[in-house]
Amino acid sequence: MSIAKKEYKRITIKSLVEMKKRGEKISMLTAYDFTMAKIVDKSGIDVVLVGDSASNVMAGHETTVPITLDQMIYHATSVVRAITRALVVVDLPFGSYQSDPKGALKSAIRIMKESGGHAVKMEGGKEIKESIKRILNAGIPVMGHLGLTPQSIYKFGTYTVRAKEEEEANKLKEDALLLEKIGCFAIVLEKVPAKLAQEVAESLTIPIIGIGAGGGVDGQVLVTHDMLGMTHEFNPRFLRRYLDMDNEMNLAFKRYIDDVKSSDFPNESEQY
Ligand code: KIV
Repeated sequence: MSIAKKEYKRITIKSLVEMKKRGEKISMLTAYDFTMAKIVDKSGIDVVLVGDSASNVMAGHETTVPITLDQMIYHATSVVRAITRALVVVDLPFGSYQSDPKGALKSAIRIMKESGGHAVKMEGGKEIKESIKRILNAGIPVMGHLGLTPQSIYKFGTYTVRAKEEEEANKLKEDALLLEKIGCFAIVLEKVPAKLAQEVAESLTIPIIGIGAGGGVDGQVLVTHDMLGMTHEFNPRFLRRYLDMDNEMNLAFKRYIDDVKSSDFPNESEQY
């Protein structure tokens, strides 16, 4: 059954909860720069995530660990300038919120003031509860992130599916409940069994946005560069590619090179 899409002038955290109530799925994609954010926003996406995946996609790092708060603010500022409709959520990067609640609030305030983003996203549950509460108390909306939390990759050791065992699944359910209770407006669930993700989505009133978490949740998020086929080294089962941009861009670049070499470009009408 398809649910009619409601037209929103601007997506707010309230619109997302309304969408869940109405059974309308939430769409979310990443953006890290002005031009991509403008295209993504124009397409009618609900949420744009300035993800710390910028560390991989933009900077070529192996993990999300190295990206800094200043770099996230730079990306978020560029994205916010392009957005007219979507809700912009900005990742708090590794090291900017784990030490203590005061430091976490300072980082979140910098993101909100300097970039103009609408909300922050933080990885973790019970362990970072006090920091989340402090940020929420300052009036900053927080999106949680549970399951595979890439900032903890060195603790996990691998990027495989999380919470397959009962103990970890129970902890995830407790953490999700806790995040809702303290006031997070949504949670990203990354790479967990579909059955577990659906159970969490059905037991909470806030939206659950999945990546590799099956279709039983309230929305989906993908990394834009992955779904456009601009990256090829990353091939998880959950990734659907909507374009082969790597190939398309390569062909365009090759044609340009040929045109320059053969003096076909520029022609008479392409000069002054
Ligand atoms: O940084 C990111 O892009 C993310 C998504 C994968 C959810 O956190």
